[in-house]
This record gives sequence, C-alpha cells and structure tokens, in this order.
Amino acid sequence: MIKIRIPATSANLGAGFDALGLALDYYNFVEMEESDRIEINSTDDVKIPTDESNLIYISARDLFEVCGRKLDGLKIVQTNNIPMARGLGSSSACIVAGLVGANHLLGNPLTTDDLVNLSAQIEGHPDNTAPALLGGIVTAVFDGRQVHWVKQEVYTKLKFYAIIPDFELKTELARACLPKEIPHKDAVYNLSRAALFSASLLTGKFENLREAVNDKLHQPYRIELIPHCQEVFDIAYSHGAYGVYISGAGPTVMAIADDRNTYFAGKTRFSLENAGLASWQVKELSIDNVGTALI
Ligand code: HSE
Repeated sequence: MIKIRIPATSANLGAGFDALGLALDYYNFVEMEESDRIEINSTDDVKIPTDESNLIYISARDLFEVCGRKLDGLKIVQTNNIPMARGLGSSSACIVAGLVGANHLLGNPLTTDDLVNLSAQIEGHPDNTAPALLGGIVTAVFDGRQVHWVKQEVYTKLKFYAIIPDFELKTELARACLPKEIPHKDAVYNLSRAALFSASLLTGKFENLREAVNDKLHQPYRIELIPHCQEVFDIAYSHGAYGVYISGAGPTVMAIADDRNTYFAGKTRFSLENAGLASWQVKELSIDNVGTALI
C-alpha cells in the first residue's frame, strides 16, 4: 500500500474568488493499492461512499483513462480529518489523493502541471486543488482546460484560525446563490483587493489584510447562508485578527492572527461560548508549504 498525505486548503482568501488559495497543516491520509475490485474503508467513523461513486476512486479512474489504462479496482483506506462540506477543501483532498496515488501506481507518467490541470478539470475551479497539490499560497487562473499558476512558499509566523461550525454548506448551494453579473466597479473592488492580499501576506504588510479580505463577489451572499457568521467575524476582529474571511464556499470562518497574539484561540472560544456559539470549534493552523506527499 502507498500512503499519501493531503493538506486542507482555504480558498478565495476574501477577494480572490476562484483564484487564490493556500494549504494548511491539517491533513487527510489515503492508503491505496491496485486490486481487481473496489474495496474502500475508513479508519474513522466518517461516512464515505464505498463504491465507484467515491471521489478518490473516480479521480484515480480518470487518471488511468487519460493514460490509456483501464482501472479494474482499488483498495483504498481513508483517514478523514478534514471536515466535509465546511470550506476546507475536503473534496479537493479526495481528488488530489486519487490523482497522485494513481499516477504513482502507474510509475508517474503525468507531470505536476498535468496533475494541476486534471484536478481543476474535475473540481471545476483551481483554488483548492492547486494548493492541495503544491502547498504554499497559490495564484491560479483556469482557462477551462489549463491552469496558469504560481506557488509561493510562505514563511510567516501568522496563524490561521479555522472557526468551524457544526453544520455543512454544500459548495453547489453556495455557488448557486451568487449573482450572474456584477457592476464594473465591483470587479475593480475585488481584483485590487485580491492582488493586495497576496502581496501583503508575502511582504509582511499584515495591516493591509483587513481591507484586502473584503469582497463583493461572494461573501455578501454567502453570509446569508451561514447563521451567526457576522457575529463570528466581529468576535475574531475584537480579539485582534488581521483579517477574517469565509473560507472557500464556507461555512468555516478563517481568522488570520499574529502568533504573538498568544491567547487568540482561548479568547475567541470564550466569546463564542458567551454568545451561545459554543458549537463553533476553533482550530489553530499554519501554512503548509509542501502540499501532497507520499509518506
Ligand atoms: N472558489 C470556490 C468557491 C471554492 O468559492 O465556490 C470552494 O470550492
């Protein structure tokens, strides 16, 4: 069995809708070997599809097809730490695991670029799949066929606090609520802030992040689908977060804080409890610069 480690990801980073994402040190693990039938298990009690509708299996089969090979079956063992449908890249982690695992089983015929392209084709957008594969912060443009990307490693003492509710929000629903068209000035509003976000993160101008995470493309619509989201934003800012945004399609809220803000997690938990929001978990994370790895 090969064993693959895949990081969670946080996409959009506020204004960079479908374009920016970063990898975090919170991992799923997938063990895999070729077999003459499908045998899928998990090491935890997370409910996963155990037939050919399993996303790891589908992605592995797609890669085999691209390479002109037929996949008869696979033995897969999943460890599902990344919570599902919470905006932390759990489906991208499955896609990337299937592709990297299948590529390895075939002797690595596909390049990293091929894997970045294929994973975005399966997911439909590149901002979770590319950082899950590559690690770091990834800027990615998907032209429908190919991803044009840059990965930058981030060496910062910033902490990313994932504030995770106990309910799910499916990406399809969170995309269906978005407007079909936006005014020109809103497009300028977003593209300037998306550019400001990565430049500020990479140069240490963290005081810009609060402005950089504002956007007019998705968060104003999604906040309506996430009960108490604004209260969670306000709590995180009241404890000194540099920037707070909806992670991916939500419902997780991501707060970026300085590692010298020692009691950020404790203070945030305390305030959540006082506001009757104790079911939201606070998880302290850092950027993963490695991406998916065979271990
Ligand atoms: N960019 C995507 C979205 C990320 O916001 O819908 C979630 O898959």
